Amino acid sequence: MAWMWKRKSFIATSLIVAVSLFVVVVNYSEKPYYLLQPMFGQTFSSIWIFSKQPYKAFKPHLGYISIPKQEPLKLRCELCSIVSSSGQMLGQGAGPQIDRSPCIWRMNNAPTRGFENDVGRRTTLRVVSHTSVPLLLQKPQYFFGQANDTVYVVWGPLRNMRKDGKGIVYNMLRQASENYPQARIYVTTEDRMNYCDMVFKKETGKDRIRSGSYLSTGWFTLILAMDMCKEIHIYGMINDTYCKSEGYKKVPYHYYEAGSRDECAEYLLHESAPYGGHRFITEKSVFAKWAKTHAIKFFNPLWQLL
Ligand SMILES: *[C@@H]1O[C@H](CO)[C@@H](O)[C@H](O)[C@H]1NC(C)=O
Ligand SMILES: *[C@@H]1O[C@H](CO)[C@@H](O)[C@H](O)[C@H]1NC(C)=O
Repeated sequence: MAWMWKRKSFIATSLIVAVSLFVVVVNYSEKPYYLLQPMFGQTFSSIWIFSKQPYKAFKPHLGYISIPKQEPLKLRCELCSIVSSSGQMLGQGAGPQIDRSPCIWRMNNAPTRGFENDVGRRTTLRVVSHTSVPLLLQKPQYFFGQANDTVYVVWGPLRNMRKDGKGIVYNMLRQASENYPQARIYVTTEDRMNYCDMVFKKETGKDRIRSGSYLSTGWFTLILAMDMCKEIHIYGMINDTYCKSEGYKKVPYHYYEAGSRDECAEYLLHESAPYGGHRFITEKSVFAKWAKTHAIKFFNPLWQLL
């Protein structure tokens, strides 16, 4: 009997090893972005970030977890159009073209109403900063009401997003999901937040926190889009040299905030802020680099990527 038992356990062990190996191989080949965190850290990331991974459909993404059910985000799209919140959107009439793409991503509380001709009508996903959540909650019916199947992906630091009752923004979102049970709200996990910081350090050589900067919603949006979208079209985003170019267009920082500080002034202010600033310009040079290994195109203004 003993030998049979041994043999059984040997077979069982072999099976477990084989299955685990298979799972590891599958994960390696299918998850360019998130699997490497936090397990593999920096060692493998350069390979995985820049390799042209085949894009796979509807894989649950463990970096984004729903409220209240705690389920990973499942998403896939052939073409995501990302509409920036920049004043560059104004007067370009890109709305109809944007509305033709299967997935339309927006950021924070950027409105469509009143700007349809320039920014389109549809919204499939919004990436939202923790600081913008109160703005969404000013119009909860509009953003989270029944007719709306937009997916919300909220990012924020642990202090605001913790789930133990002390995360002020997490609590707001939980309340919203109670009031609007159909709302599709996801939060970025702590690991994923750290991963996004790690990518910044990798790409810029600077520690995000020690250099006194905050990542922008655009940064989180692109990192998510590279995992979820086969092709990415970005509208209204300026490149890293735009504000130094001759006769650049002075536009409001946000298309929906006429009369606010102009975009380049805002960018320069942030770029040079000793602390608490977004490094928008640095981020743009990283995006240009990503566009070399991912199917990313920039429109209005067009980026001439070599
Ligand atoms: C759903 O919310 C989005 C904003 O995320 C808005 O643009 C859209 O008009 C809303 N849709 C409906 C049917 O209310
Ligand atoms: C960046 O934008 C400026 C102004 O639109 C343009 O002249 C320049 O060619 C752009 N650079 C790239 C790499 O697209």
